Amino acid sequence: MKQIPMLDLQLEYQYMKTDIDTAIKRCLDHQKWILGPEVKELEDTIAKFLGVKHCIGASSGTEALVLSLRALAIKLKGQEYFDETDEIITTPFTFTATGDAILRAGATPVFVDIDPATYNINPIKTREYLTQNLKLKTQNSSNIVGIIPVHLYGQSCNMDEIMKIAREYNLFVLEDVAQAFGGTWNGPTVPAVGLSKGSRQKLGSFGTTGAFSFFPSKNLGGFGDGGMVSTNDDELAELMGMLLKHGGKDKYNVDHIGYNARLDTLQAAILLAKFKYIDEFNERRRKIAEIYNRELSNVSGIVLPVNCSTTQPDDKGTSRNHDGHVYHQYTIRILNKRRDALQKHLKEKGIDTMVYYPVPLHKMRVFDGRYKMNGDLTESEKAVREVLSLPMEPLMSEEAISCIIHTIKKFYHE
Ligand SMILES: Cc1ncc(COP(=O)(O)O)c(C=O)c1O
Repeated sequence: MKQIPMLDLQLEYQYMKTDIDTAIKRCLDHQKWILGPEVKELEDTIAKFLGVKHCIGASSGTEALVLSLRALAIKLKGQEYFDETDEIITTPFTFTATGDAILRAGATPVFVDIDPATYNINPIKTREYLTQNLKLKTQNSSNIVGIIPVHLYGQSCNMDEIMKIAREYNLFVLEDVAQAFGGTWNGPTVPAVGLSKGSRQKLGSFGTTGAFSFFPSKNLGGFGDGGMVSTNDDELAELMGMLLKHGGKDKYNVDHIGYNARLDTLQAAILLAKFKYIDEFNERRRKIAEIYNRELSNVSGIVLPVNCSTTQPDDKGTSRNHDGHVYHQYTIRILNKRRDALQKHLKEKGIDTMVYYPVPLHKMRVFDGRYKMNGDLTESEKAVREVLSLPMEPLMSEEAISCIIHTIKKFYHE
């Protein structure tokens, strides 16, 4: 039986082999393994691509989140870490690292439920928490300092609403772009440098900072761990640059409690080679998503990912994003408690699928007694029981896509 994996990195390597081998050979020739020329070249290339002033390589997406928050604590509070009374709003329906970074920076995560259509943080619920908190302000010592929107599965959060809320309540925004390299949000209210209002703006250029992951399975993935932070703020850029090199401009005489969290030269070289293909690969992902959408649209019991054209939230906080989705994952919702049975059926036929994520953050032990939440988190709890990500390999054959679709249809018609 032919296996269909979620992703086939060997296939991608063969497709880009000459570029990648040349990039690695260049590193072998110059032997500048720490902060070699490729790191700066990648930082400049991605900064230009995103339309931001600064990009700084980091050792992972997780460290990129932590570096952002630590730099924000230093800039905003004049102290190394946030206080426990400092609250940062985020979604519970994300990878652990998003919430964990908040704890590592000393603050308290506040989980706000998701929009069931996009699986991203619901701006209306976010505003609800802020309004209620403002009312309680006199009895309460907490201090909401920022929001971390996560562009889950490659789909943008409603950045118009999030940036509006952030301006109103004077909050920082740290975009978690780990899953959405190259993704965009339409019609920004405040365009990035050099963009006119209404043009597409790259994710990671809206917030105070953005955190990217180059984990091998990401849209832009290295051959090991890697990450990046983006910002238009000179002071934050300088601080993050210091923190990732032990906490100082001079590593033998440091100012802050730092990390060794640099991006490897070798990873930067590989990422530069792969970056040449990012637009093509994201387009390939969209094409595959289109086929899935078309072929699965008549299967009752499956809810397809949304990708419509209005940026306005409806009365449930639902937001739409036309074409900006980069389908890091193609994720469907399986109704009627049949998700696990469908996953088993596909597995038996040699088709891999994944559940991102089986446990929401507020149910994890690490967050026990360490988080707050807005109302209930019903939609997140429902999503963990219903979502299923199908194989999304940009170079996947038409035969493989047809086989997946056929196998799903067969499950429903048996
Ligand atoms: C949403 C999200 N945030 C953060 C991360 C952390 O990135 P990394 O694995 O590079 O540390 C990931 C990666 O898995 C992610 O999916």
